[in-house]
Formats: sequence, C-alpha cells, structure tokens
Amino acid sequence: MQRDEHPFFFTWSAQKKAAPMEITGGQGAWFDTKDGERWLDFGSLSYQANLGHGQRRIADAIKKQCDELLLTVPSGLYPAKTALAKALLAKAPAGFTKVFFTLGGSEAVENALKIARLVTGRHKTLSRYRSYHGATMGALAISGDYRRPVLEPAMVGAVHVLDCYESRTPGGALVVEGGGSAESIARTMELEGPRSIAAVFVEPVPGQNGCLVPPPGYWDALRASCDAHETLLVADCVLNGFGRLGTYYGFESLGSASPDLITVSKGITGGYAPLGAVLVHERVARHFDDHVLYAGLTFYGHPLGVAAGLEALRIYDEEDLVARASTLGQSVARSIAALQDRHPATLPRTRSKGLLAALDIAGDDARFAAVAKALSDARLYVHPNKQARTIVIAPPLVSTESDLAEGFARIGRVIAAV
Ligand SMILES: Cc1ncc(COP(=O)(O)O)c(C=O)c1O
Repeated sequence: MQRDEHPFFFTWSAQKKAAPMEITGGQGAWFDTKDGERWLDFGSLSYQANLGHGQRRIADAIKKQCDELLLTVPSGLYPAKTALAKALLAKAPAGFTKVFFTLGGSEAVENALKIARLVTGRHKTLSRYRSYHGATMGALAISGDYRRPVLEPAMVGAVHVLDCYESRTPGGALVVEGGGSAESIARTMELEGPRSIAAVFVEPVPGQNGCLVPPPGYWDALRASCDAHETLLVADCVLNGFGRLGTYYGFESLGSASPDLITVSKGITGGYAPLGAVLVHERVARHFDDHVLYAGLTFYGHPLGVAAGLEALRIYDEEDLVARASTLGQSVARSIAALQDRHPATLPRTRSKGLLAALDIAGDDARFAAVAKALSDARLYVHPNKQARTIVIAPPLVSTESDLAEGFARIGRVIAAV
C-alpha cells in the first residue's frame, strides 16, 4: 500500500517538514528545478558538486565503463581501479601508499576508525565538538555536532574536545574562538592516559559547522601531540578535499604536517557517482602486510564510482581547478569582508578559506530563519546551519567571477533587508 505521495524517507527531517527539491539539470554553477526556477549554486549541492553541473565528460566516462565492465568482486582487478588509486596517492604527501575504497564519506571514516583500532590496538578517539564525520554509528560517535547526542550511546571511547578557530570581525581584526587550543588537545591526550588514543579525527577546516579555520600553528601542533602519544592523525577531507580550500586535500593549506590517514568522498567524483576512499600512509599500511585487514564491502571499488572518480580527477588537473579555487577564494574573502564591513551589526563574525566560507548572523532564531528563507527566495543555494546560526557557502570550483559577484549581490540584498 502506498502511504503518501513520497514512498521513501527524506533525510535529517521530520517527514512532514521535508523540503524536497526536484533538480532537472544545470550548467556550471547554475541548476534548474522542475518548477521552472533557476538557482545559483553557492553550496555545491551537498558540498559534492565541486565540478559544477552538466559535466558531460563524467557522464560519458560512466557510459564507457558500462560498456566495458560493471560486475566484479571486491578483490577484482581492472585497470581503472589501479589507475584511480595511483592518481589519488599521487596527490597525497610523500609516503602514502595504499587506498581503501568505499561508497561514501561515512564509510570512509568508519573504515579509518577500524584501521586505527587494528593498527594501534587502542579504541579511544579524539575529535572536536563542532564537527561532522558521518551518519553511521562510528562516524556519528566521533562527530561533535547536534546530530550525535540523540543517538547516543554510539561508541565507547569517543572523546570530544573544544574547537579552535579564527573569525574575522568587522574592520578586519581576527579573534580566536571556540574555547579550545592545540595545547588543550595535548593536555586532553595526557589526561586520557598517555598513549591511550588510537586516532585524532579532524576535518582540517570543519565545513558544515561553519568553516572553522584553525589559527596558524594549530595543525602542526596537533601532529606533534599525536607523535608524542603514537596516535594516528586522520584528516577527514570528505568536504575539504579536491580543491575546496584551494589546495588538493585541504590540510596542505594549514601547515607542513602530514596526517597518517586521509578520508575523502564528495568531490572525488564531483558527485556524479557514489565513491569514497581512505588514503593510508605506508607507516600504517605496512601493518596489514602480515595482519588481516578486517574490513570489506560488496561494492568495494565498484566500476561506476571508479570510472567517475578517474574522470573527475582528470578534470581537476586539466582545468587547473585547484589553483582556480585558490584564486577565486581570494575574491570570496574580499567580497565577504566588504559585506561584513557594510553590515557590521548583522555579520559580527565571518570566516573563509578557499571556496569555503561562513557568515555568522546576529540575532535570534527567527531572524536567522528569515535570512535563510530570503536567500532561498532569491534562488541562491547555500547551507544555513541554524544550530550555529551561520550561513555556509561553498561555490563549485568552476564558478566564474561573475557567478560569485552575482551570489554576493544576492546575499547583500538579503542582509540589507532583514
Ligand atoms: C567532513 C565529513 N565527513 C564525512 C561525511 C559523511 O559523508 P557521507 O554523507 O558521504 O556519508 C561528511 C558529509 O557531509 C562530511 O562533511
């Protein structure tokens, strides 16, 4: 029996309050919906559409793969799988030698958790409060934001620490916020018991929680604390990766330290097929030469995702999109600063890194809801985070300067009117 018009669940929503969107197509930074509206995508949909809309090359690569091979086994060998693993590792810091394929970001984090536990023999993790690492129970347990508490207990040993980030105030001064610091992480690791944490999981720059850019030195200090406790450092680059922060995986923009594991998804295919991966440094990977890797998935390295990923990586390179993100990021930072300085009472704090940015909105929930609605009415697609009262933006890397100018003009009109 069909219960109502939509016989499937909408995610992260009471079903009666869901706001479905019927996307019919698009080009570049723009997409169309069935009601005839044209939206400017300032969020890269769910942060995966780094390559924008209407990428024929990826659709064609998937079609070609359909003609060649679709059905294989997790241990299956075929050229595109090897080529993609090599291409991913080639962009990682020196010493990364193995890839574990998944179908998405949560599964990448989940398998990074397993790898860390198997290698260290420890079960505790350390992660930050204003973070999101995925919806599966392990990934949710280490996430810090509002999505976790309702499902607890999730996983024993998931320790959380306060955040540490720099915000711009009107006029341009930077303030460090969040209550945490690199020192407090080092102290927490001591207090939890020296050498007791399997891994520290961090989004280099937490995304949906408000583009929380850590102060200079934080990332490298984190590495030093992990080294002191023989703890693995996992960079969750599911959202930060593939140029979003103006560097390939994201953490490169924060310091010189290299993590032990890197989790990726979203931009790996530009969103055109499901795929994720864990990139593993040789100092970790070598453990599994003689020890069983207790992890696997039926659709491990499925040809559809792999074909899409391989073509996406070629596009990032051939169109020099990571450098483009860095250049466009400077323009985003300028536009945000100008907006904030024009509306200091409404925008007390802003942050940006590459093509990821956030505008904190002053006032109560009702005012925040009014801003979010007005942006939607203006057909600008952004990510309102009502818990943090911040609007997160993440335009596709293929956006033009005029797309960005148009988006900021729409934001400017909304801010001026509320
Ligand atoms: C940093 C981070 N990690 C993990 C995930 C989970 O990825 P997925 O939704 O593909 O499972 C997300 C999703 O937004 C994310 O932003």
